[in-house]
Amino acid sequence: MRIAQRAQRIEPFYVMEVAKAASALAREVAHTDRPVIFLNIGEPDFTAPDPVQAAATRTIAQGATQYTQALGTDALRQAISGWYASRFSVNVPARRIVVTAGASAALHLACLALIEHGDEVLMPDPSYPCNRHFVSAAEGTAVLVPTTAEERYQLSAAKVQAAWGPKTRGVLLASPSNPTGTSIDPAELRRIHEVVSSHGGVTLIDEIYLGLSHDEAYGQTALAISDDIISINSFSKYFNMTGWRLGWLVVPDALVGVIERLAQNLFICPSTISQQAALACFEPESLAAYEARRAEFKSRRDFFIPALNALGLTVPVMPDGAFYAWADCSAACAKLGLKDSWDFAHAALHHAHVAITPGRDFGTAETARFVRFSTANSMAELKTAIERLQACLNP
Ligand SMILES: Cc1ncc(COP(=O)(O)O)c(C=O)c1O
Repeated sequence: MRIAQRAQRIEPFYVMEVAKAASALAREVAHTDRPVIFLNIGEPDFTAPDPVQAAATRTIAQGATQYTQALGTDALRQAISGWYASRFSVNVPARRIVVTAGASAALHLACLALIEHGDEVLMPDPSYPCNRHFVSAAEGTAVLVPTTAEERYQLSAAKVQAAWGPKTRGVLLASPSNPTGTSIDPAELRRIHEVVSSHGGVTLIDEIYLGLSHDEAYGQTALAISDDIISINSFSKYFNMTGWRLGWLVVPDALVGVIERLAQNLFICPSTISQQAALACFEPESLAAYEARRAEFKSRRDFFIPALNALGLTVPVMPDGAFYAWADCSAACAKLGLKDSWDFAHAALHHAHVAITPGRDFGTAETARFVRFSTANSMAELKTAIERLQACLNP
């Protein structure tokens, strides 16, 4: 069968290969005293709070499950707008908010609306692998720009200016980032946006982890900078609703109609049940649960990052958000006689029964030296993982 070039350009998601190996081993060792600890998963270990679950059940019981308008219900768009006002003190009118099937559909819509065949989009190396593929599905090319720890693994205005070429259409950033959990300094983001705008380009920023920010210096939305920045967000991470497939994007007024046409044709609408349920995310009881969980993520970070550093799995920049640790495993590889982070991830799985993600998916610059740990797991599991890694590194 002839497969379209567009599909062939999509590289395999190596994370899933490691996840498959981890699941196979997990079945084998489930009933031993060393079951697999999953630190490879990029989703909260919490589920939607009770009011959200109850709202979903009510919606189903009432049969209120017909299609909604393509942009999402007015009530949910208003509620998201209210969240920007109360949480970030930013006025984002509901008319500019488009509700989508997760950040994934938001990224897809934004790329389809803005990227032409041959356009190039700058993004940091390392970054979330699917971003490259959203660009390539729109027939553009992702250009990975290597970043350093000093830059918090984010692009700088100087690097964007230096990398800008005749085909560059814009930048696709993420703050806080997956895999590093580090954010762009707001002043630098303002400068990046100025450079992009001076070239007539677009600034897209994935703020899916913004709700899980641990540092007020960084935890600000880019929407405070300019109305022409496109921000992608989701109910998956802070709101603990990964499988509910609900997210949103905020676009300039001029783009709303274009995105609406695309969304109508490609998706009809986001899940009605999830949209109804998500209204309950903004009730005081749910918000209290989310804030308690955010504090729990911070406690885990405060335990886990120093513990990794003490093992020689150095995390060059303390994450200011999300639930990841981007750790340099080159010293551990040298000690254990391993080639790179791919081999280290497999060694951690088979010797310590700790599943982690090798850097390979996230870029090419330094990813052979790095692995990503997810701290979206209980403190008890994180402590056991550290003990096992310690034993593995100091046999
Ligand atoms: C940076 C980033 N963007 C987007 C997504 C996709 O999220 P969603 O579940 O909202 O589609 C993820 C999921 O891990 C992510 O880490």
